[in-house]
Amino acid sequence: MSTDAIVLLKNDHKTVEKLFKEFEKAGDKAHRKKRRIVDSIIEELTIHAYIEEEIFYPAAKEAVPETKDHVLESVEEHHLVVWMLSELVDLNPEDETFAAKVTVLTENVRHHVEEEEEEWFPQVRSAMGRKQLRDLGQRMIDARPDAPKNPLKLQSARA
Ligand SMILES: [Fe+2]
Ligand SMILES: [Fe+2]
Repeated sequence: MSTDAIVLLKNDHKTVEKLFKEFEKAGDKAHRKKRRIVDSIIEELTIHAYIEEEIFYPAAKEAVPETKDHVLESVEEHHLVVWMLSELVDLNPEDETFAAKVTVLTENVRHHVEEEEEEWFPQVRSAMGRKQLRDLGQRMIDARPDAPKNPLKLQSARA
């Protein structure tokens, strides 16, 4: 299996997109199922944001100084996302705002992922090369267990 950092991040994006689709397909009355899906979304996105903020973004900024503004914007987007995640942690899925919050979260994350994948990850790929991306990916794999459970413990929560 590849440890290429960008491949790993894109795999995480796919995992989360699958969960968004599952949520969209779940029926209006499927409260317990929706709660479970949202718990998985919170867990996946918190780990993903952690490894990006702690490892990938700093490495990208160092390797490609021109991505600095993209990285800063991405952290601000994480900021909004992690606060939304924190609201969803204890929100009853029967609450009338639950689905609305998940919809806005989904829109925000889709936009963010598109920018990462289309606008600046390709610049990082060409600047770093395969070996550096593999080493970076290995560091990201090793860091996953250190991710916090609480989204508000992420750096971007205080950005
Ligand atoms: Fe991100
Ligand atoms: Fe990402």
